[in-house]
Amino acid sequence: MVYTGSAVVKPAPRSDFVETGYVSQVTARALGYVQAGCPVHFRGPSGVGKTTLALHVAHQLDRPVMLMVGDDEFGSSDLIGRQAGYRRKRVVDNFIHSVRKTEDDVAPRWVDNRLTTACREGLTLVYDEFTRSRPEANNALLSVLEEGLLIIPSPNRDESDYVPVHPDFTAIFTSNPVEYAGVHQAQDALFERMVTIDLESFDEVTETAIVQARSGLSEAEALTVVRLVRASRPVLGGADRHTVRSAIVIARVLAQQGAVAQAGDPVFEQVCQDVLTGETGRRGWNGLTPQVVREQVQELIGQHAPGPAGRRPARASSPARKDRVPSPASPGSPADQSSPADQSSPARV
Ligand SMILES: Nc1ncnc2c1ncn2[C@@H]1O[C@H](COP(=O)(O)OP(=O)(O)OP(=O)(O)O)[C@@H](O)[C@H]1O
Ligand SMILES: [Mg+2]
Repeated sequence: MVYTGSAVVKPAPRSDFVETGYVSQVTARALGYVQAGCPVHFRGPSGVGKTTLALHVAHQLDRPVMLMVGDDEFGSSDLIGRQAGYRRKRVVDNFIHSVRKTEDDVAPRWVDNRLTTACREGLTLVYDEFTRSRPEANNALLSVLEEGLLIIPSPNRDESDYVPVHPDFTAIFTSNPVEYAGVHQAQDALFERMVTIDLESFDEVTETAIVQARSGLSEAEALTVVRLVRASRPVLGGADRHTVRSAIVIARVLAQQGAVAQAGDPVFEQVCQDVLTGETGRRGWNGLTPQVVREQVQELIGQHAPGPAGRRPARASSPARKDRVPSPASPGSPADQSSPADQSSPARV
């Protein structure tokens, strides 16, 4: 069968995926559960790699992946499908040429939606941010995960159809903590049907490897950016702000503009201010004023990316540094513990 729906992804891992000890360990845990027939749920704050890991685990299963993203507007029909008009079948029987018999059969026409297609065809369902859908929209999952049956409503309210769930069907879920805006409290019965792996911020080694892979910066510079961003968390707002995404943005701007991760480099200082100050302001300035936050960012730059005393940092002659070769890893350095990552410039953060 050829899957042409836009939500069906081929099982091809991304080329810049970074696999450190931490990532391999979480992947192996999740794969173990999925292969034992238990759906897995990655839960954690923004930017800890839930979606990336869910797709990575799904790709390991080597089945087409059906991707769904939770939405407050979803009803059950957005998962299961809906009746879309009627199908008319006409049978003309003129076996005996003098007699013409016509039979009309009008039946409701059902159009599958993503969950139904995944159940019928045995796809791997990745339901990203599933708690952004209202709990009642996700009810169909209860019998899918427990009894292996998808119940399809019939236009006649007294009847239902059942779709047996294909044995290759698996489901991987992600969610943000319930205190996040727009996240619903999912029903306990659904949580009981999956194994939840709580993810926290990446370790420094993984974060550095990701930033390096996603920007093309050298390992040493990626590490400087990561240390600065990590240091800003307790000072400016907490683990779910200034995530690896902030570090990736800063690193990509440096790589693109030939700037240096050192105090005194105007591009570096400006992008740190924009990204870190902006992120703090996004949720109320952490009880500080914008001016104080800017000063704290400047202080963090001085502490974690000090420039050589008394001179401005050297700027690269060409604006883009895509041709730079990352410096070889030193023993015990972050790159020692990660797979080589594709250095190509990523399309998005
Ligand atoms: N193993 C990895 N290799 C390469 N990049 C990664 C890896 N894990 C995460 N990233 C990158 O880190 C960023 C955050 O990851 P991701 O989007 O998966 O987080 P999330 O937990 O799903 O966040 P949110 O809750 O905001 O959706 C992304 O830019 C992603 O591409
Ligand atoms: Mg995500």
